[in-house]
Amino acid sequence: MSIRKFRQSDRSSIEGIIRATGFFAEMEIAVALELLDLAIQKPDQTDYEIYVSENVEGLVGYICYGPTPCTQGTYDLYWIAVSPAAQGKGVGAQLVDFMEVNLSACQARKVVIETSSQPLYDGTCAFYVKRGYHEAARLKEFYRPGDDKVIFMKDL
Ligand SMILES: CC(C)(COP(=O)(O)OP(=O)(O)OC[C@H]1O[C@@H](n2cnc3c(N)ncnc32)[C@H](O)[C@@H]1OP(=O)(O)O)[C@@H](O)C(=O)NCCC(=O)NCCS
Repeated sequence: MSIRKFRQSDRSSIEGIIRATGFFAEMEIAVALELLDLAIQKPDQTDYEIYVSENVEGLVGYICYGPTPCTQGTYDLYWIAVSPAAQGKGVGAQLVDFMEVNLSACQARKVVIETSSQPLYDGTCAFYVKRGYHEAARLKEFYRPGDDKVIFMKDL
């Protein structure tokens, strides 16, 4: 497995991975694709860093993170997804570790991740806790009745 910078030809594979997870609604997928398109159209932009993980068969996951606007050294992990067939094999951990090594090299202080409290995301939350993130805040019923925004954070 190796990690490299996202390129234009990865777009459809990433869309396939996002859809295959079954985790994201159409409007969320549209936002994820918008960021890919922005990175394609503006290769010099620095707001969104996008990397993919691939093995001999092709892409198995991707991560998108970037500096949180108006902060000093705080970064958002905006998106991470691993294809269902490759989940549970360390791909997600490798992507998060890769991001953290990159960020540590540029004096980043904190990483923030927002997710949902729906039971579907229990495994995702467990994954973040395993990577050393803790629940820093919770916005009750933020997304919809019964669905909180859970904010994870890690000091680098
Ligand atoms: C969350 C996700 C990125 C994790 O990637 P992954 O490659 O499956 O995770 P890994 O195999 O690297 O797991 C790393 C650790 O997290 C734990 N973990 C991963 N998924 C887990 C789950 N569903 N339940 C409990 N623990 C889990 C693993 O056991 C592992 O622990 P270890 O370090 O002790 O071995 C992936 O499952 C995914 O794409 N999920 C759907 C999309 C999603 O939720 N994205 C984030 C939206 S906010």
